[in-house]
Amino acid sequence: MSSTSTKYTLLDDGEEKSELPSSRKHRALRLSLLKQFYQVLLHLIVIVLIVIVRQSMARPALPACLLPSELPLAADAIRYETVVFDPSGFSSGNEKPNAFEGSPSPATNAAWAQLCDVGMFVLNAEEYKRLGRPTAELVDRPGEYLVTLEVMHQLHCLDYLRIASYAAAEGKHTHHEQENDWSKAKHLSHCINYLRQVLMCHGDLTPITLERKKGLPPYRPDFRITHTCRNWDRIHEFASSRNTSGYGIA
Ligand SMILES: *[C@@H]1O[C@H](CO)[C@@H](O)[C@H](O)[C@H]1NC(C)=O
Repeated sequence: MSSTSTKYTLLDDGEEKSELPSSRKHRALRLSLLKQFYQVLLHLIVIVLIVIVRQSMARPALPACLLPSELPLAADAIRYETVVFDPSGFSSGNEKPNAFEGSPSPATNAAWAQLCDVGMFVLNAEEYKRLGRPTAELVDRPGEYLVTLEVMHQLHCLDYLRIASYAAAEGKHTHHEQENDWSKAKHLSHCINYLRQVLMCHGDLTPITLERKKGLPPYRPDFRITHTCRNWDRIHEFASSRNTSGYGIA
């Protein structure tokens, strides 16, 4: 009996002895797998961080700055980007004029029409409350309120001046034929003085750099200047999303 029990004990011992290294082996394997997993995870985290840092360095994300007088729900439409301005008109060499340049023609008119294709913007009752200022309710659609987005009105004004000034320079009549002279004079005066206020209001402090040149004057402005701008497509998309009033901007 005792020998059997001894045998059992021996066997038990033997089993424990043979089990111990294998469980240690398992543990070691688990540990090394875990270590590998953490190493991979660490690498992934480092890669993601590098990508994030590089992206933020490439496009420094300026916080969207919605001014207190602007439409609160437009905050999401603001994205800043750098834009190199087209020197326009004063391009050197044989650069092609951009789509908005030159006398009114079917092509230039189409380019301008696309900029000015958003009419009056519609607010719902909730948004109207947040506006904090009275505005007209659509006569046939109670609960819908009208506003015009400034940038759309301003572009309209510039388009009006474009047509009027080319017509004056070329001794032609404008295509604002339905307007009488009194109204035309008012419209011109409104647009010129309105856009003056817009430019002064925004007070763009971007420096225009100059180049030395032979002859007089010895310095020439380089209009190919990098500006920080609000992305236009995003604003246009936002304005188009509420272009449901059916009213254009006159
Ligand atoms: C905006 O609405 C007007 C009038 O309904 C329409 O003529 C114009 O094409 C619309 N513009 C856009 C960008 O949807």
